[in-house]
Amino acid sequence: MAFSKAAAVVGKSHYLINCQQCHDADGRALANIDYIAADLTAPGSWYYGSSALHIYSSIKFGAGLEMPPFKAELSDEVIWQIVAHVLNIGPRASRPQQK
Ligand code: HEC
Repeated sequence: MAFSKAAAVVGKSHYLINCQQCHDADGRALANIDYIAADLTAPGSWYYGSSALHIYSSIKFGAGLEMPPFKAELSDEVIWQIVAHVLNIGPRASRPQQK
């Protein structure tokens, strides 16, 4: 799956609506005191896999006990846009390259 920068930009707006209350606006979840959420900029520290498909699955079906599933709220198209955003804030090698 190839992601575009444009998808990541749209994904960021969906991220800020759906994810920042637990993962913070920057994805690092350092300021959050309500949930011990994953640092989305550091996939090396994750439990549930860091490929695009794993990120999609964590969003769609949830991850662990406290990461809620979004399958009822978000379409697959929006979930993939959020995946593009999560990749875009992660390690440089996995960021979307295409415009
Ligand atoms: C209600 C709080 C909450 C919301 C909202 C939330 N998350 Fe999470 N998320 C968590 C917690 C807590 C974990 C850690 C779960 C664990 O390790 O057991 C997590 C884990 C994850 C993981 C898996 C990391 C790993 O270890 O593999 C990903 C990816 C992720 N979240 C992305 C997102 C995205 C993208 C959104 C928005 C669509 C989102 N989360 C919304 C709380 C939340």
